[in-house]
Amino acid sequence: MSLSLDGRVALITGAGSGIGRSHAVLMAERGADVIINDINADGLAETAEKAGANGRRIHQVVEDVRDIAAMTNAAKKAEAEFGKIDILVNNAGVSGQRLAFEDITEEAYDRMVDINLKGAFFLTQAIVPGMKECRYGKIINTSSMYAMGGNNVAAHYSAAKSALSGLTNSLARELAEWNIMVNAVAPGFVLTGMTSPGRDEEGLKRRVEQVPLQRMSGEFDIAYTVAFLASDEADFITGQVISPNGGERIVGI
Ligand SMILES: NC(=O)c1ccc[n+]([C@@H]2O[C@H](COP(=O)([O-])OP(=O)(O)OC[C@H]3O[C@@H](n4cnc5c(N)ncnc54)[C@H](O)[C@@H]3O)[C@@H](O)[C@H]2O)c1
Repeated sequence: MSLSLDGRVALITGAGSGIGRSHAVLMAERGADVIINDINADGLAETAEKAGANGRRIHQVVEDVRDIAAMTNAAKKAEAEFGKIDILVNNAGVSGQRLAFEDITEEAYDRMVDINLKGAFFLTQAIVPGMKECRYGKIINTSSMYAMGGNNVAAHYSAAKSALSGLTNSLARELAEWNIMVNAVAPGFVLTGMTSPGRDEEGLKRRVEQVPLQRMSGEFDIAYTVAFLASDEADFITGQVISPNGGERIVGI
């Protein structure tokens, strides 16, 4: 048993920046060939360069996860090219834009649910048959600390992320007989393109002071959790939502 991902093939959505990029770099470093997706072609190319530095095969899929037919088609093509997909990380997501409940329009709601939940749901549906054939799979969804304790300025975000926890638990039960493990990561605060716009330094400092471990997530803290869940060492773990958050949720902020 080890943390090695040698010989594995991983598909990661939303890998053109932030946490998804860290997943791609770390998984390639640990031996996986990686299929990366994003709508942002430039960001994805940058990720491919970084992850490819480890000598693994990197395949780029520039698609919108909301386009179910295009994503299914691209995933099936990549699966045929690589021979299998062992690991699926549903990571693509968008922020709640700090909207008060009454200000969340139907359009904002649909965008949130379509990207965070519907995209993950149907991409998983496209990948599961191949995993069943291999009698092996690791599916890791990306929830959020805000699914666990709510959020006062992003009800649609918390709702979509909570739904991913329900999906995770259901699929963990349904797919266990095929040796497919399904878990979710619920990151605490990570400074990325999603969370940095408009953030004031003082506010950030005050927030960090309330985190028991007295720091924000580093670039790879979330990736370490996900790569562990994808490894053989986590073969007895399914239906779990794991939240690397420095202890922030304990104090219930
Ligand atoms: N940063 C945090 O504090 C934090 C906390 C909890 C959960 N998360 C979750 O982690 C995941 C990654 O977030 P991040 O912080 O790295 O943000 P990010 O904005 O840096 O990365 C998200 C990526 O998803 C891509 N994306 C957005 N819509 C897409 C679509 N329709 N199709 C394909 N790709 C799309 C973006 O282009 C971007 O590259 C998200 O699901 C987010 O909700 C982040």
